[in-house]
Amino acid sequence: MVKVITYGTYDLLHRGHIRLLKRAKALGDYLIVGVTADDFDKGRGKINIKQSLMERVEAVKATGIADEVIVEEYEGQKIDDIRRYGVDIFTVGSDWKGHFDYLNEYCQVVYLPRTRGISSSDLRSEVRKVKLGLVEDSVIVRKFLKECTYVNGIDVVGICTPELENLHPDFKELPLKTSCYEELVQNCDALYIASQPSEHYEQIKYALNQGKHVICESPIAMSAEECDELFKIAEERECVLMDAVKTAYATAYTRLMVILKSGIIGKIVSVDATCTSMQGFNPAQKNNKRKWNSISAWGPAAMLPIFQLLGTNYIDKRIVSLLADDQGSFDLFTKIDFLYKGAVASMKVARGAKSEGELVVTGMKGYAYVPAPWWKTDYFEIRYENSADNKRYFYQLNGEGIRYEIVDFLKAIECEYTLGSVSHEESKEICRVISDFYARRNFFSLDGKERYLTDK
Ligand code: CTP
Repeated sequence: MVKVITYGTYDLLHRGHIRLLKRAKALGDYLIVGVTADDFDKGRGKINIKQSLMERVEAVKATGIADEVIVEEYEGQKIDDIRRYGVDIFTVGSDWKGHFDYLNEYCQVVYLPRTRGISSSDLRSEVRKVKLGLVEDSVIVRKFLKECTYVNGIDVVGICTPELENLHPDFKELPLKTSCYEELVQNCDALYIASQPSEHYEQIKYALNQGKHVICESPIAMSAEECDELFKIAEERECVLMDAVKTAYATAYTRLMVILKSGIIGKIVSVDATCTSMQGFNPAQKNNKRKWNSISAWGPAAMLPIFQLLGTNYIDKRIVSLLADDQGSFDLFTKIDFLYKGAVASMKVARGAKSEGELVVTGMKGYAYVPAPWWKTDYFEIRYENSADNKRYFYQLNGEGIRYEIVDFLKAIECEYTLGSVSHEESKEICRVISDFYARRNFFSLDGKERYLTDK
């Protein structure tokens, strides 16, 4: 019996796939089809797959052409499969010509001509494209724009920024460049907002009221009440409102969260997160006003693992900051301690001080260690007293998580519900903590001049 094997994603199964499967089957007597798992495809940069792994497996099974359907989960699996199943022929479409010649060592490799004029990518982009507008010209917005090019179904149509004359060359090709926010909103279906945190509330409210979807750099508002109001409007207007915290979408981070929740390190007693970068307040520079302070720039990412592992119902907190100037709005360094029933947490953020940017989660059986910079890591360890029990985990990270954030935003728009990796509760608590910082609630100043203590 001649055994044939072929692999593919088989998203939105089309006639090109069917023709390939039929010809593959005709090469022998028994056909095995490997369907690529989502994560493996993410690793190769194919991240906007429309159907789930189960749907794609079912669709291939339903053709009745395959004798056996398997899932492809890891790099190098093809060699294992060929040996395990005693495969005689490996085949794929001619778009892969030459790519799998290394398998000739194990079996015969056949490239079949690809069917012209159809592909899953084409079918995916037939779905109406979301017209996206960018708000503000900054490093993160430039990264966001670049990541949009890796995702089907999104078309960046314009940018709005107060200083149009200094617009970065990356944005020069965009059809609409304006300093009028209303004009941008009018010309798009969705917005990515990365303006000053104090501008978010008004901008989001306006966009939602015009029926536009919004993804906004966290914090989305300056108080818990404003945040609640925005989510309410989004619900009424049937629009998506999402926090953009790229870490929340990084595969290693999301895996770490579920692994820890499964109890692998026992009951969690402490979460300690540090994020720092030296792009702080410089009294000699004029544009300090538009610079995000430490609590806004890093606070949301640092609070994320705390709230996602311990919840948002802490009993008490203490905010300690080193402020840059007398107005007190720019914190060079902030440390916040949270007290929970049975656990504690701390976050340290700074744009004017430096520390090790690691995440440590302490459990009663062991601990999780995510090395710096943990907010964009592809790696973490679960460690125990006996180091022989330690486990290491690696996950490919593309585009610092921004790419997956965009995919999630599009899915939320298409499916008309938010899948969201940051819950409303978490989003709201982030806003509350930042408003407490500005209101000097539960607040201590490090220079010893100020000392405020009021209840939450
Ligand atoms: N295939 C083909 N003819 C097409 C499309 C795909 O013969 N028009 C073959 C591929 O060469 C591969 C298999 O079908 O052997 C599965 O391809 P897959 O990558 O899942 O489909 P594509 O349509 O190529 O997907 P994408 O556009 O995302 O690359």
